[in-house]
Amino acid sequence: MRHLLDTTDLSLCEIEEMIDLANDIISNKKKYSHICDGKKLATLFFEPSTRTRLSFEAAMYELGGNVIGFSEAASSSASKGETVEDTVRIVSNYADIIAMRHPLEGAPRVAATKTLVPIINAGDGGHAHPTQTLTDLLTIYREKGRLDNFTIGLCGDLKFGRTVHSLIKALCRYKGVRFVLIAPRELQVPDYIIHDVLEPSGALYTQVESLDAVMPDLDVLYMTRIQRERFFSQDEYLKHKDAFILDAAKLENAKGDLTIMHPLPRVNEISTEVDDDPRAKYFEQALNGKYIRMALIITLLKWGDNLEY
Ligand code: CP
Repeated sequence: MRHLLDTTDLSLCEIEEMIDLANDIISNKKKYSHICDGKKLATLFFEPSTRTRLSFEAAMYELGGNVIGFSEAASSSASKGETVEDTVRIVSNYADIIAMRHPLEGAPRVAATKTLVPIINAGDGGHAHPTQTLTDLLTIYREKGRLDNFTIGLCGDLKFGRTVHSLIKALCRYKGVRFVLIAPRELQVPDYIIHDVLEPSGALYTQVESLDAVMPDLDVLYMTRIQRERFFSQDEYLKHKDAFILDAAKLENAKGDLTIMHPLPRVNEISTEVDDDPRAKYFEQALNGKYIRMALIITLLKWGDNLEY
């Protein structure tokens, strides 16, 4: 049995196999529509979500399986003081696989010590969001035809943004990916991303505070939300909330084949006028999230000898 707690749990070969499987699911949906007949996914969401939870649930239904779970801690016995360990120990008797989101960093890793079935980290605090990363890799692969040799700009809240941390960890394993980290100094990536992830990988990276100057260099622009819920004070949030707003004027200097991504939800960091730009791929990205999660469910069940495939 294997879990997905961080993107580094997967080898590059396994990531590529999952991307190939997602692409096959996209092309041959009927082939997979009963593959999980009789299986159950539990979605344990201790923190709000639209895309991750509902795409996991849609993924399991489209594979022929069923879903149980809760969408907020308040409607579970966590509200009575039950621990993550006990919750998971119980739910793993009821389901074949668990997707879990929690505000505390490391909670899915704790859950993995008590479970009887595979655990998927669906986002833990400001730490990691590996299924978003798989979504992002599928999207980049479908847009660029490769996962190496391109320049990506990551823009916004790089300090608290778990999607950014997970994506950097994954992409720096590929050859020739150059990172432009665009954020106010206070919201730059945590030191461990520089010292433990980027520098040991040998990947080229720069840290800048302005999007305009670097826009012409980018092949992929990954915008992120300034996350109000992660700030310690309202004043700090208000200071940064409008730091970057991508609009049509800002894109005038961008490459014709730029891929604009965003894990969503957005607040105001991408103007809605950009939605009609053919380079905007964030809605396709959200759809890709369902297909890669279908591929992930199949793969983890297969690795646990709980699926004939
Ligand atoms: N991208 C993402 O994690 O969105 P949700 O918070 O809506 O799941």
